[in-house]
Amino acid sequence: MASLCLLLASAPPALTARPQLVSRRAALFGLGACHPTLHSAAAAQLPSLRATLHTTRNDAPLSSSLIARPAYGVQAPDVYYPEWALGRWKVTSTLSSVRAPLGTALFAPRRNGTAALLQAREEIGKPLRYEARWRRDAEGRVVVDRRFCVESISRAAMGEGAVQEAEEDGPNHLIMYLTPSGAGGALYRADLNVVARRVDEQEGEGAFACAETTRQTIVLVPSEKYARATPPPPLIKEVETICTYDRVSRDVIQAEQRTATFLVGDALYTGEQTFAEQQAGLMSRRSDGTMLAVDLRHYDLKYERI
Ligand SMILES: *[C@@H]1O[C@H](CO)[C@@H](O)[C@H](O)[C@H]1NC(C)=O
Repeated sequence: MASLCLLLASAPPALTARPQLVSRRAALFGLGACHPTLHSAAAAQLPSLRATLHTTRNDAPLSSSLIARPAYGVQAPDVYYPEWALGRWKVTSTLSSVRAPLGTALFAPRRNGTAALLQAREEIGKPLRYEARWRRDAEGRVVVDRRFCVESISRAAMGEGAVQEAEEDGPNHLIMYLTPSGAGGALYRADLNVVARRVDEQEGEGAFACAETTRQTIVLVPSEKYARATPPPPLIKEVETICTYDRVSRDVIQAEQRTATFLVGDALYTGEQTFAEQQAGLMSRRSDGTMLAVDLRHYDLKYERI
């Protein structure tokens, strides 16, 4: 289960997008001056994704603004990547740090947090290899091949036979049926919904940064073997993934990722959650109600063109 959460947490903006760069700029610097909108005002105040990612690396001190759940929503229908991302890539992803910003007690609500943190840190420095692809959409824009990438990462993280089925339902929704190796054949249904998406327009040529937050609902699928009187309640989290990409050459991209996991403690979603999880959800909120990350991980990635 831990590896499943990790995998889903580290799914790249596999579930991620490049919005209307030109129109947004026009809104900010052109029309926006005469007709300011809430949208452009909010966009102007957002800190850069790259700075946020870099500031929380390693043992740097964390402020609550650096680990707060994004306040924006889905700002673009998909992430539109630069032309240089198009094609097939061999990816090497290496975990570089795991932090528990609110302490070990809240790191993994259904488990011993101290043990879970130690276990997560055992993966530091061990590279995960998988294939990633960017393709063109119907309008010719470069988008990530979501289903392919999520499946590819799932197999790399949970075993070659882990993915039973994956259904992509547009850029904002993906469902997977998984049997992680080492889980005794249990079948899980993972429902991933994009709830926030943003592309950073402060990036220069040869650089790209985007972020996506997905709400992940993971349930054990009842089966003969796992028929239980009381099935475990679904595990519901939101995971923000920030990605930066830097083009090194035509065939090499250097990238970094940061995942921040939030406990969904909202009554709207927690009807079936355990009391302990609801408490943890409440305790991981700032006094203004903003959710704060309980699990923060950084990864270094290298993309080599296939
Ligand atoms: C939690 O795990 C740590 C590290 O393995 C261990 O020292 C501690 O006793 C455990 N706590 C409980 C309550 O089981």
